[in-house]
Amino acid sequence: MAVALQMTPLLMLLASVASAWGTHSRTRRDRTDLLNVCMDAKHHKTRPGPEDKLHDQCTPWKKNACCSANTSQELHKDTSLLYNFNWDHCGQMEAKCKRHFIQDSCLYECSPNLGPWIRQVDQSWRKERFLDVPLCREDCQSWWEDCRTSHTCKTNWQKGWNWTSGMNECPVKAACHTFEFYFPTPAALCEGLWDHAYKVSNYSRGSGRCIQMWFDPAHGNPNEEVARFYAEAMSRAAPRGHGPLLFCLVPLLLLWLLG
Ligand SMILES: *[C@@H]1O[C@H](CO)[C@@H](O)[C@H](O)[C@H]1NC(C)=O
Ligand SMILES: *[C@@H]1O[C@H](CO)[C@@H](O)[C@H](O)[C@H]1NC(C)=O
Ligand SMILES: *[C@@H]1O[C@H](CO)[C@@H](O)[C@H](O)[C@H]1NC(C)=O
Repeated sequence: MAVALQMTPLLMLLASVASAWGTHSRTRRDRTDLLNVCMDAKHHKTRPGPEDKLHDQCTPWKKNACCSANTSQELHKDTSLLYNFNWDHCGQMEAKCKRHFIQDSCLYECSPNLGPWIRQVDQSWRKERFLDVPLCREDCQSWWEDCRTSHTCKTNWQKGWNWTSGMNECPVKAACHTFEFYFPTPAALCEGLWDHAYKVSNYSRGSGRCIQMWFDPAHGNPNEEVARFYAEAMSRAAPRGHGPLLFCLVPLLLLWLLG
């Protein structure tokens, strides 16, 4: 009994040292790990690489992509086999609107430059997601303008659908209205839609400080520089591991063991 009681603080100490090490190695994606990486999700390749057969709107990524040619082709289809997601859940989505959703899907599936915004999640269909990717303000603005007259029934498209038919349908209580009704501002659309995958940036296209959904590959991929900038900023801001904590704990542990 006495021994057990005495052991408790020692075990606690050991546990905290172990968890300090654990957190240290788990959260510290160092800078190279944030650059040129693919997310661990349903259709992403493990590593980015050249894909010369990328389809239509995804071709800007062909020099270096996380998507396969098949994925890029599939995501251009209505209710593609990738997610069985139906854009036309409130009647036909206008073509000028749909192209933004296709471009958003290309960025999601193909971009190797979103490493700084990858977060772990506990979802059946993916282990990681994007959070608060700083989308260039004009890309969000034109998405919103081209979609305001199309129709939908929900503000968060990530959850709450009726999937009984095998594809997403509006739940009975969710009425179809214009995009503008559900998304009164560009930010409401770009940030709400995929549960904060994007954050609308105050920076403009070409600034090197925001992610472009649309770009002309003739001038390279502008998002490479953006990822480098944020990866560097994050590694400067991140705590330098748990060195100081271990320095305090290890002598304590020794004292305990010797004493
Ligand atoms: C293309 O992708 C779809 C959806 O993941 C899959 O069902 C199909 O088998 C794939 N086709 C090829 C040729 O890999
Ligand atoms: C889901 O859709 C089915 C038809 O596909 C319908 O019978 C059912 O009532 C719907 N449920 C909800 C909660 O909307
Ligand atoms: C965003 O940028 C504009 C001009 O580029 C500036 O006037 C405005 O204050 C900025 N807003 C924020 C929240 O930084």
